[in-house]
Amino acid sequence: MPALLEICGLTAGLQSRRAITPVVSNVDLDVQPGEILGVVGESGCGKSTLAAAIMRLLVTPQVLQSGSATLRIDDDKAYDLLNLSENDLRQLRWRHLSYIPQGSMNSLNPVLRVERQMTDALLQRGLSKKEASDRAIAALELVSLEARLLDSYPHELSGGMRQRVIIAAAVSMHPTLIVADEITTALDVVTQRQILQELAAIRDELGATIIIITHDMGVVAQIADRVAVMYAGEIVEVGSVSDIFQQPLHPYSQGLIASIPRESGQRVEGLPGEAPSPWNYPAGCRFHPRCPKVFGRCREHAPASQPQGPDRWVACHLYDQETASDD
Ligand SMILES: Nc1ncnc2c1ncn2[C@@H]1O[C@H](COP(=O)(O)OP(=O)(O)O)[C@@H](O)[C@H]1O
Ligand code: SF4
Ligand SMILES: [Mg+2]
Repeated sequence: MPALLEICGLTAGLQSRRAITPVVSNVDLDVQPGEILGVVGESGCGKSTLAAAIMRLLVTPQVLQSGSATLRIDDDKAYDLLNLSENDLRQLRWRHLSYIPQGSMNSLNPVLRVERQMTDALLQRGLSKKEASDRAIAALELVSLEARLLDSYPHELSGGMRQRVIIAAAVSMHPTLIVADEITTALDVVTQRQILQELAAIRDELGATIIIITHDMGVVAQIADRVAVMYAGEIVEVGSVSDIFQQPLHPYSQGLIASIPRESGQRVEGLPGEAPSPWNYPAGCRFHPRCPKVFGRCREHAPASQPQGPDRWVACHLYDQETASDD
């Protein structure tokens, strides 16, 4: 089946007076129709920049440098989101794309009731008041909220409820693709789990495709079908969740999995150090200063992404075709 979204060579950075510092480098990634794809990496790895770039919602000084993101919809019509005119993009966004930016549960307008905030976009799209209200109620139901919540103001709601309102507002548009950035961060574990279950049910009910962006491998394990692991602006491993959890190939994926808190409360081995900022991306493999398996060529040569079986890719010199013994 052709990918719903095919991202090729996406590079985005931060513009200063003199130069552009790349934040996200040369990302290739496919998103299959109806799947939940997790994009995971520590804070600062460029996940939100990637999401905003795909949605064409980068904000100065962020700039898109190159690449394409081809969305295939409506009997296989193809649209390159990164090169579409603003007007065409607006149409497409309304009909097909919903983006839940990081931190958006705190962006509800405090002086407007939930109903107004949920129905404004639907009314703009030409729905009648009754249709918009029915859609909002149906969407609230999908996230286990009652219709009476429409009369509330944001401050009357818990964090979990506000996040659900944001998700419901996105879902009420019946999008083809939902991009959800850190939607469970800052919520307690029980609420997190419920919201992820609701999101999976939304995928099943609406047939939507979801990209879920998170710093938490535990979230990926709970909800995603496939996962793309991101480090220092690059995708370092892609595969099905079962393959990656059973046998993570990239040392960074291995570290992220080892860092998942255990329910037993047992101490976990965290990844030492932290992700570099875009001004300090190391030469060679960007993970090399933290990698327990680093060897000669890692310090100078960036590893290319290579297939490792069906729908499995890794960018690490440990898996280069020729043996690593010459280093
Ligand atoms: N507008 C900005 N101004 C300055 N630095 C930024 C900006 N946007 C992103 N960055 C930097 O780019 C890197 C990647 O950020 P981001 O995409 O938010 O990562 P993530 O979502 O994985 O935490 C971080 O080091 C961040 O500080
Ligand atoms: S290329 Fe080298 S440094 Fe990078 S992850 Fe693989 S082994 Fe580690
Ligand atoms: Mg982020």
